Amino acid sequence: MKNERELLMIPGPTIVSPRVLRALAKPVLSHVSNEFVDGYAEALALQKNLFGTVGTPFILAGSGTLGMEAAIANLMEKGDKVLCVENGFFGEKWEEIVETHGGVVDRLRFDWGDPVDVKQVEEKLSTNEHKLFTVEHVDTSTGIANPIDKIGKVAKNTDALYVVDSVCGLGGMPLKMDDWNIDFALTGSQKALGAPPGICNFCINDKAWKAVENRKTPPSDYYANLRRWKPIMDHPKGYFATPATGLVMGMLEALRIIDEEGLEARWKRHALFAEAFQAGIKALGMESYPAEGYNAHTLTVPKIPEGWDDAKMRSIMYSKYRVIIAGGLGKLGGKTVRVGHMGNDTKNDLVATLGAMEMSLAEMGHVDDPGKAVGAMMKVFIKN
Ligand SMILES: Cc1ncc(COP(=O)(O)O)c(C=O)c1O
Repeated sequence: MKNERELLMIPGPTIVSPRVLRALAKPVLSHVSNEFVDGYAEALALQKNLFGTVGTPFILAGSGTLGMEAAIANLMEKGDKVLCVENGFFGEKWEEIVETHGGVVDRLRFDWGDPVDVKQVEEKLSTNEHKLFTVEHVDTSTGIANPIDKIGKVAKNTDALYVVDSVCGLGGMPLKMDDWNIDFALTGSQKALGAPPGICNFCINDKAWKAVENRKTPPSDYYANLRRWKPIMDHPKGYFATPATGLVMGMLEALRIIDEEGLEARWKRHALFAEAFQAGIKALGMESYPAEGYNAHTLTVPKIPEGWDDAKMRSIMYSKYRVIIAGGLGKLGGKTVRVGHMGNDTKNDLVATLGAMEMSLAEMGHVDDPGKAVGAMMKVFIKN
């Protein structure tokens, strides 16, 4: 018989709190019922606070990729030049989206695992050729967190619109859209927000909205045309296309949980999770993939030492301990693994995950002194 009690510790989808699950299990609501319309409005208001903006929040059915596409389809017109700042799999994804919508890609690429160099972004933008530029907050392929606050200082002095993909950051790491001059920021429901996949959340500020209004041609997408959706976000009783009522009510509960915890407390908890997991992998003799000082707080990406079989480790972790972590993404397949620790995960979840990893590696003959890694993690938790 299949044991249903699995521990889902991949970097999204993440474990969903029972409170959110209960909200999702309710009977389906009409999209024009008072209960839904009030819930949608409350969720949108909470989202503005989460993004740190007075701009317009959008909550749409779709995944994080919809937010990336909405940014490009609405902010850019055919022939516009877009600076894609890349240091991982998701950063590189922007190129395809820009090209799909007829834009011209100008690529600023850094090695995977190295942070974005703010000076080089500044030099590129000083040419004043770009309609917008894209940056990953956390690139989930490498576990790196880019200095989006510092890049924001550069963004202040340019006409180019600053677009940030925070699918793997927001809700777990600070992102202050208005303070950091971010014009368009996006995330998805299934990571640090702690809801199931299916909702895309993004916010757009006045500068970016003016660019949408002043377009010479219509946005290059029908469903993701933000001019059609903005009236609904302003007054959620209106209709353009049926909102995912159940998922929005689940999202509302997830946003309430974040609000109750408080952003500062939530950021601190994620920072502690990252510190504890880093201590654990170090005790196992593994190194973190991102450059020193740039580890994201939402996931850990250890390098797999020469001669270790990560697929075997993951297979033992699952078959014996019901713990699910992810393999390396793209060119890092077989070279890294990825462990998510975000959203509504708890210290217990982290101890169990690292314990499963340590026991699996011991079984494979890679650990002489089992308990060392979990001990190192516990020391971090006990101290804090
Ligand atoms: C950093 C980042 N950006 C974008 C995406 C794409 O989001 P989705 O898979 O929800 O479309 C992901 C997905 O994992 C991601 O991690």
